[in-house]
Amino acid sequence: MIMNILVTGGAGFIASNYIRYALSVHPEDQIINVDKLTYAGNLENLQDIESSDRYTFIKGDICDSTLLEGIEFDGIIHFAAESHVDRSIIDAHPFLQTNIMGTYNLLEIARERDCLFLHVSTDEVYGSTEKGFFHENSPLLPNSPYAASKASSDLLVRAYMETHNLKAMITRCSNNYGPYQFPEKLIPLVILNGINKKPIPVYGDGLNVRDWIYVIDHCRAVDDVFHKGTSGEVYNIGSRNERPNIDIVKLILKNVSELCNLDEGGLMDLITYVEDRKGHDRRYAIDPEKIEQEVRWKPEMDFNEGIRRTIEWYISHEQWWQRIISGEYMKYYNVQYGERLKA
Ligand code: NAD
Ligand code: TYD
Repeated sequence: MIMNILVTGGAGFIASNYIRYALSVHPEDQIINVDKLTYAGNLENLQDIESSDRYTFIKGDICDSTLLEGIEFDGIIHFAAESHVDRSIIDAHPFLQTNIMGTYNLLEIARERDCLFLHVSTDEVYGSTEKGFFHENSPLLPNSPYAASKASSDLLVRAYMETHNLKAMITRCSNNYGPYQFPEKLIPLVILNGINKKPIPVYGDGLNVRDWIYVIDHCRAVDDVFHKGTSGEVYNIGSRNERPNIDIVKLILKNVSELCNLDEGGLMDLITYVEDRKGHDRRYAIDPEKIEQEVRWKPEMDFNEGIRRTIEWYISHEQWWQRIISGEYMKYYNVQYGERLKA
């Protein structure tokens, strides 16, 4: 079936990878990307596909229901969010606005049009666990304002499924890494600070554990759930790949040393233990058995290989990250689209 899919937040890390993936595996589908272009939205993430006649970009806020009413589509894959925990600790307001009210707006329009809604969520809604794994029916016990805003949106999706018979699925994925990740998150931050010989902040004792997945494996899972999943269901997405932060930092620096011909000891000296994040979740760990059994999805990327490829991507895309560091990337929209919009 040919589909016209609204992807929200498509200029961000995961959804830009998703759009590229979806255009390649569904040769007839149309994708409309609605993105507000916050600090995390970067149209340079989509430069290679923006001329495709199956892709349309609309600059807009998911909180703007009038804008959404004017767009034709028959399915929604909802990625747009404020996504960085540290920012949610400093100021939760945009998180509540976009992640809760924005999701509510999309749910309203999905119910009016009776279209399929996939809500992209996170394992952080389950909170922290010292042992065992999160399952789809684990309680929602979010600890950060970011996680609480995502848990709130998950509950709204559930309520629309129960109350309005909305056809929807929720996916809850573990920590992603890979090309185009904004360098405020741990993995790209360590890569770039390593290359640029800047201090690498490690929060607390560095022993917090995250479960890491390569972004393309996540994109494939979202696509499989959208096309083959069962409406009303929640699917955890993970790679069974738990690592303490400090191990990841050291692994990245070892690879940076080899790939950039830099002294390994000097890079390790950049590691700087800093004050812990407030309410820092100790461990996230996902059981992905349900999606593996029911949707027949499996992660493909080996972690060492994925880290190596990610570092190589950042090394070969210096202009991309230099323009983020300088702030130039925010001007791309006006240069590329400003004239067209005025016409
Ligand atoms: P990101 O911060 O890189 O990108 C978010 C995108 O949403 C940006 O392009 C931004 O401009 C856009 N956006 C923000 N507010 C908007 C609004 N009001 N209207 C329209 N667009 C808006 O995020 P990401 O890391 O790619 O995460 C994408 C989704 O995946 C989020 O829903 C996040 O909760 C979820 N998720 C992320 C991870 C991870 O490790 N990054 C893991 C699991 C789930
Ligand atoms: P992050 O990439 O922000 O993802 P999340 O908080 O959503 O899991 O952080 C991953 C882990 O790395 C988390 O335990 C916090 C830690 N961290 C640091 O130690 N130093 C840093 O500079 C950052 C950004 C994160």
